Amino acid sequence: MAVPETVLTNRDLEAIVETSDEWISTRTGIKERRIAGERESTASLGLKAARKALGVANMFPTEIDLIIVATSTPENIFPSTASLIQNSLGATRAGAFDLSAACSGFVYAVEMATQSIKAGGIRSALVIGAETMTRVLDWQDRSTCILFGDGAGAVVLKASDIEGGVLSAVLRSDGSGGDLLCIPTVGSGDLRNSEFGMNGHAPGKMYMNGSEVFKFATRVIGESINQALDKAGIDIEDVSLIVPHQANLRIIQAAARSLKVEPELFMSNVERYGNTSAASIPIALCEAIAQDRVKPGDYLAFVGFGGGLTWAAMVVQWVDTRKAESIRVLAPQRRQVSYFLASLRANVLKATRTLSDLTRRIRPRRGRMLRLRDKVNQLDQ
Ligand code: COA
Repeated sequence: MAVPETVLTNRDLEAIVETSDEWISTRTGIKERRIAGERESTASLGLKAARKALGVANMFPTEIDLIIVATSTPENIFPSTASLIQNSLGATRAGAFDLSAACSGFVYAVEMATQSIKAGGIRSALVIGAETMTRVLDWQDRSTCILFGDGAGAVVLKASDIEGGVLSAVLRSDGSGGDLLCIPTVGSGDLRNSEFGMNGHAPGKMYMNGSEVFKFATRVIGESINQALDKAGIDIEDVSLIVPHQANLRIIQAAARSLKVEPELFMSNVERYGNTSAASIPIALCEAIAQDRVKPGDYLAFVGFGGGLTWAAMVVQWVDTRKAESIRVLAPQRRQVSYFLASLRANVLKATRTLSDLTRRIRPRRGRMLRLRDKVNQLDQ
């Protein structure tokens, strides 16, 4: 995981909008969130998390076959944030694309990578959830700007003979609620009266109907976890940890009530990071591992919900594939060298393209000069 250093507390927010630490804490459970600095972006946070994930998996970037970045705050519409990260990593054998499923994006992306591996088309995938939500917030809207934060998390998935891994997934969508939680782009302003319009909400900023989203979230979490458990053929009692999308502590508590389990079964760190959208599940997973709450053989459930509307639940049996592998000599140092070479390669490729573009522009000018000289010669004759 990678989060920006700058912390924005509820008290800091009191100076920006009419709110209070007490209101935010009791209604959401959030105390503080991280804010991307001037030189930080979705790609830079995602890249940091990706490098750490490769380190943990003890793999080299050239061993990755596919990179998926789940994000609602991509660097560009295209090129994808995944392609930018692929280039910086030097993952020269990987395909790369961004996936848009809002706060459910990470679970969707893990399922896409899992199915590609299971189908045999690829052997490994890097799945990243990365966001700079604070750049799309309306800082005058106190009902949304208090909720979100920035960050990234990443995992590596790999084909393996060891039993376990992703056992089941349930992906769902209800586009009729699209305008309840949205970030319209420039084009959608023209669609005000169309079936696909977002009610004329300003482009580039987030809009949310909080109470409707709250009701939707509390309904789908329990429902989809039960469906994923059924598909995996296990019971809720077998699950040792649920890692939900971190949106609001009250949503997590309501989900625990609907599943008739203790709230402690749910991992929660919303207090320190707020809602980091597609990044929240991998960040919470990383912290759960660091707190020793995940062990090989454990059954875990992930559940995401958000814009689209989308929701997704997944059951995983945690497997540590590294145990089955031989020790790799000087792997961290070799990874550092490969990152340096990747940046060198990227710069050389850029310089070569600029040079070839320059010569292409100069050549026709030379041609024109020659034609002019011929004309002058003809006149002389
Ligand atoms: N500080 C102080 N007061 C605030 C406030 C803030 N930051 N935001 C809203 N209020 C006010 C409202 O204006 C309203 O005042 P009024 O009664 O005078 O009109 C009052 O608090 C209650 O607002 P309401 O929207 O009913 O509060 P709520 O208990 O539903 O909590 C959310 C609002 C946004 C925290 C809650 O609806 C929520 O968490 N929804 C889900 C959001 C979410 O998770 N989205 C992402 C999903 S991926």
